[in-house]
Amino acid sequence: MTRTNLVSELARHITLRQLQVFEAVARLGSFTRAAEELYLAQPTVSMQLKKLTDTISLPLFEQVGIRIHLTETGRELYTVCKEVFNNLTNLETKIADIKGVKSGLLKLAVITSSKYLVPHLLGQFGRLHPGIDFSLNVENREHILERISRYEDDLCILGQPPPESEVEAHPLVPNPLVAMASCNHPLVGVPNIPLKQLLDEPFILREPGSGTRDAINRLLTSKGLRIPVARMEFASNEAIKQAVVAGLGISILSLHSLALEGTSGPIAILDVQGLPINRYWYLVHPKNKKLSPVTLAFLEFAKMEGQNIANKTEQKMEKIRKSRAYNNKKQKNK
Ligand code: PGA
Repeated sequence: MTRTNLVSELARHITLRQLQVFEAVARLGSFTRAAEELYLAQPTVSMQLKKLTDTISLPLFEQVGIRIHLTETGRELYTVCKEVFNNLTNLETKIADIKGVKSGLLKLAVITSSKYLVPHLLGQFGRLHPGIDFSLNVENREHILERISRYEDDLCILGQPPPESEVEAHPLVPNPLVAMASCNHPLVGVPNIPLKQLLDEPFILREPGSGTRDAINRLLTSKGLRIPVARMEFASNEAIKQAVVAGLGISILSLHSLALEGTSGPIAILDVQGLPINRYWYLVHPKNKKLSPVTLAFLEFAKMEGQNIANKTEQKMEKIRKSRAYNNKKQKNK
């Protein structure tokens, strides 16, 4: 077959959907994860790949043990796919440019603790720009960093931007990490609890890969302390909060995770030496990614609105500091 014949043969049989399925399987190294990402059934993924393999007449993947690997042909096709989809994304951006910020999709990925804040930002932004659709992925820090390296989103929110200079980071709002206990816990109202004493309590920690967990571990290491080995590990802020309310243990989480119940509800903030851990949230995107008008408009809006949220966070922290000072005074007057 001549070169032109081959190209027209491929054009007649290969669909963009097949390439999209192939790209997802190659990138994620898994049929199951690709099916999940594309909201397809696994047999559909297998069938699309079979058609693609039949058209190319060479295997694209090989199985080694339980893992699948790209063959040489697969690697070549993967390179082509990345170019095709990058170009299509650029086309999407250019079309959105032409349309302005009237319509388009804003794709965000945010760390778990910022899920208490981001929907409010989207709600306000959506009222200003009713034609814009949103997609929001909520993941832990490790997964967000992976997504940034794969250019998967328009913008990400995470605790500490990666040190590499390939990303641009815009400060959004302060994120104080505070110690939480059930409001009936005996340590509630006790002033100046030593950090070491906190670790005598059953401690509920986030999963490996969590930025909150890393920040706690860094603080403890700097004080020569460690979380006891017999700890509880939950991969969800909400599950930790419910466990704290149920009296299962104490934890250190973002103050923002108490957005709905406040600090005088079923969960109380403990006055612990060395806390809060003062973290910050950043809006992050790869430096060389061309931002669409929708993304730029959201970035500006979020930075402005971030000022208001920062002021409210500072007011909450001030209230917590005042109640600590009050407990201290009470203790001294005893
Ligand atoms: P996490 O991130 O949701 O991964 O714990 C929180 C943060 O990095 O501030």
